[in-house]
Amino acid sequence: MRIFAIDDSPSILSFIQRAVSNIESCELLSFLDPVDALTVLQTAPADLILVDYNMPGMDGIELISRFRTLSNARDIPVIMLTSETDPTIKIAAIAAGATEFLNKPIDQTEFTIRVRNLLALRKAQQDLANHAQSLERDVAAARARIAAQEREIIWRLSKAMACRDGETALHLERVAVVAGLIAEELGFDRATCETISMASPLHDVGKIGVSDAILLKAGPLDAREIDEMRAHAAFGAEILNGSDSDIIRIAATIAGSHHEKWDGTGYPQKLSGEDIPIEGRIVAVADVFDALCSERPYKKAWPVDEAHREILRGSGGHFDPACVAAFDRKWRAIRSLYHKPAVPGDGSPPTVRTNSTLETAA
Ligand SMILES: [Fe+2]
Repeated sequence: MRIFAIDDSPSILSFIQRAVSNIESCELLSFLDPVDALTVLQTAPADLILVDYNMPGMDGIELISRFRTLSNARDIPVIMLTSETDPTIKIAAIAAGATEFLNKPIDQTEFTIRVRNLLALRKAQQDLANHAQSLERDVAAARARIAAQEREIIWRLSKAMACRDGETALHLERVAVVAGLIAEELGFDRATCETISMASPLHDVGKIGVSDAILLKAGPLDAREIDEMRAHAAFGAEILNGSDSDIIRIAATIAGSHHEKWDGTGYPQKLSGEDIPIEGRIVAVADVFDALCSERPYKKAWPVDEAHREILRGSGGHFDPACVAAFDRKWRAIRSLYHKPAVPGDGSPPTVRTNSTLETAA
């Protein structure tokens, strides 16, 4: 433990030196000049301050006041040494931050007991602070483990769902990254971007309620089949609704809104504009873009630059213009996710399963 002694009297400092030498595990720093002491205190942590009241240049009360403004000085005990009997001085010293007083001439036994007590108190404070920090670290580590497990479960569940309709982990991964990039460009904070990104792979979880005959059908869907397919959005939201998890709550929002369209022609609720949750508007762009770039049994993969242009064409119709603009501004980063360079078309237009290119591709 480090004790600072500040007194303009060399004999008092010598007395303190002798008295402290009887206290175990102590290092004493002595100062005749209070200004010198304050300078050292700015960089050298103290465990106890002993300060005289009457000193030239700066009295003990001013020193205590200035010391208490230093960082981490709030809990360090300060004993004022004084021969003053005026109670107003003691009150002023307490107001400035003095912890205790010792009257001059100093009694060595009392000095030793008081210093030991205050050092023990200081040690207990430090142990408590260390314990609190250790608990904080443990809690942070436990939270990180739970968050990682949550992310892993979501990811594995998403992959399991995607297997049903022939989607790949790569599709989910790219949708997650692109959605995160769009959210970032829209100005969301990092935690929100991560939540949207992590939740996005669950967007089609409701397809678990769609029959294989429809899900895997190679030809066009009839009206009844389209209705059943479209039910996956509401069903996905129903599966995910009611969770305490931020990621699952956002995933529920995305599942229920990723097929809504900016112009109100989407489903399941035919929401339009900003009535569509922003998470759903973001994932709509990411999902459709990746679907266009992905090969399916019924279509070739579009060249990424052509898919990019298709997204731009959908601005204000299918997609939120702000999300499309953010997607466009992030184009270099998004394009780098798709390793194949753009190739000139072979002359035939990209083919999709129905006339509703974007909807069916997603
Ligand atoms: Fe979907």
